[in-house]
Amino acid sequence: MNGANVERIQRQLEQLAEFTATPGEGTTRMSYSPQGQLAREYIKSQMLEAGLSVREDAIGNIFGKSAAQDPELPSVMVGSHFDSVPNGGAFDGPAGVVMGLEVAKLFQEQRLLPRYPLEVVALVEEEGSSFGRGLLASSAIVGKVDAAELHRLCDSQGRSAAHCMAEVGFDADRVASVVRPASTIKAFIELHIEQGPVLEQASLDVGIVDVIVGITQLVVTITGKAGHAGTTPMNRRQDALVAACQVIAQVGEFARQAGEETVATTGKLQVFPNGANVIPSKVIFTVDIRSKDWHKLQQVVEQTKACIHQQSGAGIHCHIEQPLLVAPTQLDPEIHQLLAKHGEALGLKQRTMVSGAGHDAMMFAGQTAVGLVFVPSRDGLSHHPDEWTDYAQIQKGIEVIFQTVKEITEASNYDE
Ligand code: GLV
Ligand code: MN
Ligand code: MN
Repeated sequence: MNGANVERIQRQLEQLAEFTATPGEGTTRMSYSPQGQLAREYIKSQMLEAGLSVREDAIGNIFGKSAAQDPELPSVMVGSHFDSVPNGGAFDGPAGVVMGLEVAKLFQEQRLLPRYPLEVVALVEEEGSSFGRGLLASSAIVGKVDAAELHRLCDSQGRSAAHCMAEVGFDADRVASVVRPASTIKAFIELHIEQGPVLEQASLDVGIVDVIVGITQLVVTITGKAGHAGTTPMNRRQDALVAACQVIAQVGEFARQAGEETVATTGKLQVFPNGANVIPSKVIFTVDIRSKDWHKLQQVVEQTKACIHQQSGAGIHCHIEQPLLVAPTQLDPEIHQLLAKHGEALGLKQRTMVSGAGHDAMMFAGQTAVGLVFVPSRDGLSHHPDEWTDYAQIQKGIEVIFQTVKEITEASNYDE
């Protein structure tokens, strides 16, 4: 295979994996943490090495832009995110960032000058692990986040997103300045690990995504009343955790009944005051619901909200926020075709597929032509320390995107 350098890909991914708050227990890299900052410096250094001009926006997204025959034309963007879930893997996000770096490096090595600028992007806060709001940075880029939201969203220690940003030199109050008008982006292409078993089971090299499932995330606060666990009779309790459990046990059932691969998960739960001998006075938990069928998604959301409200009364109060709601997203058929054409020319085994995970690509899809390429995940595992994709498989995905980007940017060799 001509081009993409597997040693360089491995080196960069291994280096990024070092920036974790939980060494030996997977990747834990919150966006504005010390590890996030170390990853930031490394990514910027690699962008500079690939000959890109580097800038960061007001909330910390990193952009590396190439020279171009016509620098005023809209960019062809490539990349992904560099934050992680707690104790996640080394590939979810970084594989796509390294793809962007490698594509830029190949342009440099092969002396290619694009007509449309190539722009490598490394995005913050895709996972929502810090502030309970997935796709935060890409939502901001398409104008769907305001400063008030960044002041309101808090991490589990009660620090607002705006505060965490300010601590490392970013400015939530300038979030409007990160919006990229549609006229500045010609296309956005992301590489991601599949995070599921389909490609591996069928021994395929790449998946070209046509639809990303719809996703919503609810943040539910249930308040009751604290009391002594030994002396408060069972019929005089206002136990917030018992009420929360009624909901948590039901949501999976709503999803199962909806079918169509609809799924629902409570992955985050905070109990206050969190003492073994204290009746819980407050519980905050998330409900993540996904479906490729927009109606099924809405149906499960409505059932879940009704179930939450049913817990109200007898001293229990419920409050629901819905920081994320994205409809199932269709990606661009022309980019899909181009990716498939280049995959075929490279002799890769490929298929079209649906993404059950959310991706920054879905926010850009309302704005520009978007493509998303999957590479196989070992045992279909992701959001886990053992997440793994062979470097040679990532190399194949990068090669497809490189060829496609060469075509979309209308690149030519400046020696010829
Ligand atoms: C990101 O991994 C998501 O699907 O939430
Ligand atoms: Mn991801
Ligand atoms: Mn993820």
